[in-house]
Amino acid sequence: MKNIVLIGFMGTGKTSTGRLLAGRLNRPFIDVDKKIEHETGLAISDIFQLYGEDHFRQIEREVISRVARYTNTVIATGGGVVLKQENMVRLKNTGVIVSLMASLEIILERTARPGIRPLLDCEDRAERVAKLFQDRASLYMKADYTIDTSCMSPQQVTERIIVFLREGGHLRGRS
Ligand code: S3P
Repeated sequence: MKNIVLIGFMGTGKTSTGRLLAGRLNRPFIDVDKKIEHETGLAISDIFQLYGEDHFRQIEREVISRVARYTNTVIATGGGVVLKQENMVRLKNTGVIVSLMASLEIILERTARPGIRPLLDCEDRAERVAKLFQDRASLYMKADYTIDTSCMSPQQVTERIIVFLREGGHLRGRS
């Protein structure tokens, strides 16, 4: 069975939805950022601070190349995974790609806690979010299924994804 891969901007609910989805489908769950933190022994923010974004992207690329070989797993990715086309080619080869979207206002609300997302630790968060979102929007739209999570709980998003997967024949009658 193919993996189910959640992509989307920071604050769109990939981790919480992924965990719920994996539970509902009785599949393993992998959060790529958590895996990177576990394997390096460093918080994502520390990797950015100590080694810079490019280094983080190399680690991310390497971890993606491994998790893309899994099967039957729900995979929550970091928001920047779409920046490298090879990440998406690999993930797409073995998985169904589901993109979680949200309005800029909601993203700002959900990412307000400082110290967690290094790209948003800056003076004008609104401006940064708008710029990054604009740069990436077309990449997030390349998914097999896109869902606006702005007014939905992770539970509702999960149920909606399950309907899509069932209707698309991706669950083969399971769940
Ligand atoms: C990033 C998103 C983060 C994390 C890193 C970079 C991005 O993950 O991978 O801070 O470039 O959008 P979340 O989307 O889970 O916050």
